[in-house]
Amino acid sequence: MAGQHLWVPRQATPADQRLVDTLLAGARWRHAHLDWLDAVDLLGQSPFLLATDHDRTSACLACPPDPPGFAWIRVFASGSELQPAEAWACLWPSASRRARQQGATLAAALSAEPWMVSLLRHAGFEETNGVVFLEYRGRATDPPTLAGVRIRSYRPGEIDALLDLDQQAFPGLWGYSLPVLSAAIEQAALVTVLEVAGEIVGYQLSTASALGAHLARLAVAPQHQGQGYGSALVRHLLHAFSVRGFDRVSVNTQVDNRPSLTLYRRLGFADTGQSYPVFTAPLSGSALGGDA
Ligand SMILES: CC(C)(COP(=O)(O)OP(=O)(O)OC[C@H]1O[C@@H](n2cnc3c(N)ncnc32)[C@H](O)[C@@H]1OP(=O)(O)O)[C@@H](O)C(=O)NCCC(=O)NCCS
Repeated sequence: MAGQHLWVPRQATPADQRLVDTLLAGARWRHAHLDWLDAVDLLGQSPFLLATDHDRTSACLACPPDPPGFAWIRVFASGSELQPAEAWACLWPSASRRARQQGATLAAALSAEPWMVSLLRHAGFEETNGVVFLEYRGRATDPPTLAGVRIRSYRPGEIDALLDLDQQAFPGLWGYSLPVLSAAIEQAALVTVLEVAGEIVGYQLSTASALGAHLARLAVAPQHQGQGYGSALVRHLLHAFSVRGFDRVSVNTQVDNRPSLTLYRRLGFADTGQSYPVFTAPLSGSALGGDA
């Protein structure tokens, strides 16, 4: 069927919102990054490519570098007119080139979907990490108090301090940009900061739904780590959610993130057995579509 059309990539614009909504709603194959941003939030960014043939659009791929240097595949979807491999072949060479031109050196994708995994492997991506899920069940006891430390709610206007701290704690692929952190704060049910001598040195951000609470972000400034602050923030949120009637708090972290895994398990989180592989590929050209 693809042979009847000449699909070519074109950059999407905010004016394509309805078209992209329709494409995603009807997509037969759809990959969406675990993201704070919706696909339509990315429409003004590049690359966000559509596979088009005159007035028809059959696939899209978005991987704008965010954080700088890293191009997560945030959206990839294809309708019934294009097989995923054909859509990928149409979009990825141009998308990877554009991401590289904007300074991205690594592409990444988080997916356990067999069709997406096969596509990624075929394109030269390798499984380099994983995300594991843990869960805390039951009621939490009162959090301990640490001398000289205050845990309190985040206040609007403190986002720059949080961003600075977050970027120090997550320097690479897992970093947040300002738009991502803003979206996360907007969607959070509980954001708390930890202060030492009036300075914010740690924070956590959690969401809540009918399924339970979810600890989505935890960071302590590198020079303040190893002093119990991360544990204090987690115990504080477990207690806060317990008071609100939640008896289940989930979290996920990278397989190779020993400090956080140690912390969560020590505080009573148990592995759920659920995990997602993380695939990465250097954006150097050769293995990535051949149009370096
Ligand atoms: C994870 C993080 C929040 C922990 O903060 P922290 O203030 O250092 O945490 P605590 O001092 O309360 O406890 C850290 C625990 O991890 C252990 N730990 C610290 N570094 C470790 C390492 N390199 N390997 C294994 N365990 C380590 C400590 O021994 C301590 O356990 P213990 O109390 O049994 O000795 C902090 O390391 C951080 O911000 N990391 C970067 C961001 C991140 O990875 N966030 C979590 C991802 S979801």
